[in-house]
Amino acid sequence: MISRDTIDKVYETAKVEEVISDFVSLKKAGSNYKALSPFTKEKTPSFMVSPVKQIWKDFSSGKGGNVVAFLMEHEHLSYPEAIRYLAKKYSIEIEETRQTEYEKSQNNDRESLYLISKFACEFFEKCLWNTEEGKSIGITYFKERGFDDETIKNFRLGYSPEQNDAFSSIALKKGYNDNYIIRSGLVIDNIKRKNKIDRFRGRVIFPIRSLSGRVQGFGGRILKKNLKAAKYINSPESEIYSKSKVLYGFYEAKKSIAKEDCCYLVEGYTDVIQLHQSGISNSVSSSGTALTYDQIRLIKRLTLNIIVLFDSDPSGIKAALRGVDLILEQGLKVRICVFPEGEDPDSFAKNNSPSFLKNFLEDNTKDFIQFKANLLSKESINDPIKKTSIVRDIIHSISKIPDLIQQEFYLKSCSEIMGVSERVLFSVLAQEKNQFIRNKNFRQKNVLPNRIHKTESTKHIDNSYNLEKQIISILLQFGHLEAEYEEVVLKTNENGEITESFENIKAKVFEKIFLDLQQDEVELADPNFRNLFHRLISAFQVKGDLAINSMLFKEKNDLNTIITDLLMDAEKYFLHSWDTKNIFVKSKTDELGQLVTETILTLRKNLINEKINKLKSQLSSGDKNHKDLLEDIINYNRLKKTLSKKLNRVI
Ligand code: CTP
Ligand code: MN
Repeated sequence: MISRDTIDKVYETAKVEEVISDFVSLKKAGSNYKALSPFTKEKTPSFMVSPVKQIWKDFSSGKGGNVVAFLMEHEHLSYPEAIRYLAKKYSIEIEETRQTEYEKSQNNDRESLYLISKFACEFFEKCLWNTEEGKSIGITYFKERGFDDETIKNFRLGYSPEQNDAFSSIALKKGYNDNYIIRSGLVIDNIKRKNKIDRFRGRVIFPIRSLSGRVQGFGGRILKKNLKAAKYINSPESEIYSKSKVLYGFYEAKKSIAKEDCCYLVEGYTDVIQLHQSGISNSVSSSGTALTYDQIRLIKRLTLNIIVLFDSDPSGIKAALRGVDLILEQGLKVRICVFPEGEDPDSFAKNNSPSFLKNFLEDNTKDFIQFKANLLSKESINDPIKKTSIVRDIIHSISKIPDLIQQEFYLKSCSEIMGVSERVLFSVLAQEKNQFIRNKNFRQKNVLPNRIHKTESTKHIDNSYNLEKQIISILLQFGHLEAEYEEVVLKTNENGEITESFENIKAKVFEKIFLDLQQDEVELADPNFRNLFHRLISAFQVKGDLAINSMLFKEKNDLNTIITDLLMDAEKYFLHSWDTKNIFVKSKTDELGQLVTETILTLRKNLINEKINKLKSQLSSGDKNHKDLLEDIINYNRLKKTLSKKLNRVI
């Protein structure tokens, strides 16, 4: 664990513009820098770095954040990796916090397994390149497969000699602990015969690497035509290798996946390697099984687009199609490409030129749902019973898609392909969804509530969301400024009558917002905004000003993203007109009081509307005293009217 002090020091020292300029060529533009987006292909610059705010924002992909977020997005480093990277760049000594004995031993275990894996990988490479056996068997085999030297080196392919203990004897001699040698799965302990056998003996080796490039496990392909042994074997599960959590080729592919905003999924090692060599470097493999939840999450960090490549075997396709629903469910867009009969991605890429392959992929990639409907409708043309079950099958897939507009789009195209009316399809979909919701409720009650989904959906349905966002944005940008507001003041005149008059009142923006909302006893509905709101207000109350940078930098959570986005939203206006910046801010400050009043009034009105609707529904359900409810509704309506009146004055 890196100590808090070190992390703070890193944040204090690192300059976002310096770090980013190691990867992106930045041009000065006013007080900011701009550049072509490093995440997408574009011709006009939409990537911005603000040295003052120490943040960056990529308007073409929506990504943004502080210096650490950049390293995580661009270099795909983990959080601690990013901190270590910065510490190294700025020569900051890393102080580690003490770990418990248990943590230490866990880490030691993992570290030892990584070390032995690293040693093994280097050993297999040496055997491949530098021994007669490796050259004549291993290299010859890879060359036959069409892999060139660069590819073999890039994927760190290797060769494990025939001799039973070639690896184990040298590993022991080098002092590696035999406990870890066994736990890594590289060596099988044959206790009965009192000897140790290399698991991968006589095989070519495919090392499997972690996100940061460390070797975690191996795959090995046998070369002899031996009917008894499996063609491919893999490392067993260990503390550092879990088959369901890794994707072969991900380390090599991650940059290209992000850049192309798309990921190809293939069956195995050789497909990945062959595609990479042919220039399709955004391809990965889940080792012959359907993608797991964890693997999809890995991909989802980089892109929402998956293209699954199939060979043409129909039974294989159907089996694989079942796995695709899980991908749809996680909100990814799935497309399918089927290779001609007798070909898989490996053979097709080997037998054709890179440009032919590229064109083939472009021409033959089909949307998943349409692909499925086409495939299945061919089978069921004259069989109504089969057709019904196929419709259900497709609608089941469609029901997994979280985006409702997408769902509707697919229903329409499915209706055309299958020759079934949209109305029927909609009702089948409704049935599917009820089923799904029932299951989901069950899951949520019994396992974990899905936080992220909840906040995402409020974005679409909840009207106050944008207003709350605006409130936070105003606080962040102008909270410390003084502005003038027109307020209604009630007075009693000499005749004892109450009169309304308007007065201009000066106050700091944060005070005004805080007091107005407190007056209504209104809380922001969105949990992230609510949290931010309270923290901002107390920061203002304590210091009178905001140390946004320090707030932003010490956070390592989604609040960080929200703050960056809000701050950069303001910058966005200046992208094409950098020089007008001062004018813009000035005019906005002049109207600041009005902006604040308007936003608060609208939010209050909204919240009161919600309250009224709630009361009305209570009224119709009849579970409370009629008279009280009616009275409340009348009062709230009156308040709403007053607010509307004020709002009209402001606007
Ligand atoms: N695969 C696997 N386990 C198996 C068979 C295949 O993991 N028992 C994976 C491998 O990763 C391989 C991919 O599926 O890269 C393709 O399978 P296949 O074509 O059978 O493997 P090849 O090595 O290409 O064998 P062949 O030369 O017979 O085509
Ligand atoms: Mn093959």
